[in-house]
Amino acid sequence: MKAMILDSYGLEPRMAERPDPTPAANEVLVRVRATSVNPIDWKQASGKYRPILTASFPFVPAYDLAGEVEALGPGVTGFTKGQRVHTRLSGKNGGANAELVRAGLDVLRAMPEGMDFAQAAGLPLAGMTALQGLRDVGGIPMTGATQRVLVIGASGGVGHLAVQLAKSMGANVTGVCSAKNTELVRRLGAAAVIDYTKPDAYAGVAPFDLVLDCVGSSPGDFLDKLVAGGRFASCVPGPAVFGRMALNALSSKKVLPVLLSPNATDLGGLDDAFTKKQLEVVIDSTFPAEQLAEAWKRSVSGRAAGKIVVTWS
Ligand SMILES: NC(=O)c1ccc[n+]([C@@H]2O[C@H](COP(=O)([O-])OP(=O)(O)OC[C@H]3O[C@@H](n4cnc5c(N)ncnc54)[C@H](OP(=O)(O)O)[C@@H]3O)[C@@H](O)[C@H]2O)c1
Repeated sequence: MKAMILDSYGLEPRMAERPDPTPAANEVLVRVRATSVNPIDWKQASGKYRPILTASFPFVPAYDLAGEVEALGPGVTGFTKGQRVHTRLSGKNGGANAELVRAGLDVLRAMPEGMDFAQAAGLPLAGMTALQGLRDVGGIPMTGATQRVLVIGASGGVGHLAVQLAKSMGANVTGVCSAKNTELVRRLGAAAVIDYTKPDAYAGVAPFDLVLDCVGSSPGDFLDKLVAGGRFASCVPGPAVFGRMALNALSSKKVLPVLLSPNATDLGGLDDAFTKKQLEVVIDSTFPAEQLAEAWKRSVSGRAAGKIVVTWS
């Protein structure tokens, strides 16, 4: 089979021949039709984030994929050959950008009716991060009362799904994005939009129950925008987040990291939201597999609105 591989750290993966994999028990073999780009892909490939994000070589990057079941592992039931499935692969060594990929049943779902391969590849990692950030870290819905949620990076892969999920959970959502994405973020369900490029962008804005940060903001800049008892949930936890977490016990305002835990149950919940038309996967751009490096460049730019998709024929 063909796969995009790296022989060492870097951002120029190449197409190469690899042995066809064989699915083990509790796995299926998927013929990949699409993958999606998440920033972790190029962060891991670059080697810049070692030793937290290491890669073992030859490295096949990416975690999100959609395709058709090619073969079942020994004893596997519940899936059939040819069935359309999607997943955020488990483990920490990527593996998605190949013609054939082994996927564990613990992270695999059948694609819902009406979802195409691009949407199905775009949803898992970003969608589960948004869901777990809002629900498990953010505590939405906490009381049943309407929660005020601020999504920073509301037009990005995680953010555009978080806006929609928060709305479907009954929250009043404010999205933070630049002017060019205002219309998109409003269409996805934000009651208000803040243009982060404007001076005094937050002037007169009432405090929030939850800030979900999808861009790596410093929590110190947002604590005064939280109600007492509010939470700042960071999808990009760095030293400022971990430093402020040490003070959580001294404050009613909590700073917390979002650390994705991929699982088939949450992916199924996202699929249900898609079926109920509560969730739309916006596609920023599409690249053929051979142009994975170009897809990464688009992601590295930080300007993607929605998901970047890589197609496998
Ligand atoms: N902790 C975890 O488990 C986990 C899981 C998933 C992702 N992540 C991390 O979360 C981050 C977001 O991922 P993603 O896939 O959503 O990235 P992404 O799709 O690349 O995000 C791009 C978006 O960010 C917006 N943006 C950039 N700077 C902004 C700012 N200062 N304020 C508001 N919006 C801004 C851009 O809008 P404009 O063009 O309008 O600026 C663009 O739409 C990444 O660092 C990723 O590694 C972590």
